[in-house]
Amino acid sequence: MIKTVSTNPYGDQKPGTSGLRKKVPAFQQKNYAENFIQSIFDSLEGFEGQTLVIGGDGRYYNREVIQKAIKMAAANGFGRVLVGRGGILSTPAASNVIRKYKAFGGIVLSASHNPGGPTEDFGIKYNVGNGGPAPEKVTDAIFARTKVIDSYKIAEVADVNLDLESSHQVGNMTVTVIDPVADYAELMESLFDFAAIRKLIAGGFRVVFDAMSAVTGPYAKEIIERRLGAPKGSVMNFIPLPDFGGHHPDPNLVHARALYETMMAPDAPDFGAASDGDGDRNLIIGKGIFVTPSDSLAMLAANAHLAPGYAKGLAGIARSMPTSGAADRVAEKLGIGLYETPTGWKFFGNLLDEGLATICGEESAGTGSNHVREKDGLWAVLLWLNILAVRKESALDIARKHWATYGRNYYSRHDYEEVDTDAANGLIAALRDKLASLPGKSFSALTVENADDFSYNDPVDKSVSKNQGIRILFKGGSRVVYRLSGTGTSGATLRVYIERFEADSARHDLDTHAALGDLIAVADEIAEIKKRTGRDAPSVIT
Ligand code: G6P
Ligand code: ZN
Repeated sequence: MIKTVSTNPYGDQKPGTSGLRKKVPAFQQKNYAENFIQSIFDSLEGFEGQTLVIGGDGRYYNREVIQKAIKMAAANGFGRVLVGRGGILSTPAASNVIRKYKAFGGIVLSASHNPGGPTEDFGIKYNVGNGGPAPEKVTDAIFARTKVIDSYKIAEVADVNLDLESSHQVGNMTVTVIDPVADYAELMESLFDFAAIRKLIAGGFRVVFDAMSAVTGPYAKEIIERRLGAPKGSVMNFIPLPDFGGHHPDPNLVHARALYETMMAPDAPDFGAASDGDGDRNLIIGKGIFVTPSDSLAMLAANAHLAPGYAKGLAGIARSMPTSGAADRVAEKLGIGLYETPTGWKFFGNLLDEGLATICGEESAGTGSNHVREKDGLWAVLLWLNILAVRKESALDIARKHWATYGRNYYSRHDYEEVDTDAANGLIAALRDKLASLPGKSFSALTVENADDFSYNDPVDKSVSKNQGIRILFKGGSRVVYRLSGTGTSGATLRVYIERFEADSARHDLDTHAALGDLIAVADEIAEIKKRTGRDAPSVIT
């Protein structure tokens, strides 16, 4: 029943920030997915007889690749596959299943917040036994293998019925189709005070959650409507669609504009939230206030002890370097560690495993904790709801009080998408060349204090990650960061992160764009963005 198929390597299977992401037609090339999956297996040792978790965000081509992965896992000697019903497992739910059932690892099929459909994006990511994304040494080994692979193994058997929760035998391997939601909902119930949130909602507090026709629909329906009692219709766009209804399942102010407008209207609900294609990102909008991901991390960290799962306090907070420094002052006040890592959730894994950090967050709409090893969109929503239920104040009041206590970091990210790759690389190279000459120089009223290319020394495994983003730090605490996205699938995306700290509470109600105006101009001047990219304005401002 086991067949060895000869194949030719592809040269472009290098995993990015979050696994291998390409357009669907690339994955449909002969043996393309098979080559990558076999390269994953070839790079691992000791999985004979062990459990592999498989699931995805339900996007176009999900089911086809799941069938291939199941048959290849059987042919390669795994003992058991756990797969979500309908091929569905949100990224945090997959992480939980890997941990809970002590699986060897998992294959997560997703291109996160990128659009789906026959000509849109698809992705394959490997997660290790702690439930987190494979570290670089594993992804490097996988890439090396893809370049020389000459055969793969597959069991020649019928497709597994993914729509029925039951067990099947595929050769010597058992495949169990599991409820994708149950384990996750149970985990959430163990962390948060569902009774308090239920009471809040029963008292008339209105929640809306936009699942963006992506994977969190079934999770949010079960948790927010069934378990927490929010009225039917509180969860919008709850059916996962292969093309996400033609939308970008990216919960930001551009792609979740309708939610934003609902929340800014006079008759707005009390709390609005959304999650992305695979359920690991979050968008938080209280009535009348968009909470930036950087602020959300700081506010969640400052209030986490109000939820049962974090009542003992936090060991530390970790944030990616481009994420604002708002969380730093919370860590300082709590007297706990603050870790600054490169962009990419995988860098938090060691800190969480070692118990150095409890809560982590990134400006890219990711927040999470040590409960799994991925960021977790619904987790962030539920922690907010738990805090709102205990404090009995609005999100706006909580934010205002937070800023009054800690100061406010005005923050914005400007993205220049699908820029010519050479132009983008040229811009970063030119900045790098300039770094040493910048300190002491003044641009308008801003003087550069320090400038560097961020490098991270992992305190746990002592690995060093260089060239993780150009930082220009100004006197007074303002900052501009430049880096190229590691998740795009066409051209290059330049990200510019702009931040200004304001201690004075009389100045906490400014319009963000106005508060950052001078820095935005200087960011362009220093990097020659307009000149080098030919762009007059960013494609997306968040
Ligand atoms: C994915 C990762 C995040 C990371 C983000 C950055 O969502 O899971 O951990 O922050 O990509 O993407 P970028 O496009 O900026 O490299
Ligand atoms: Zn995602």
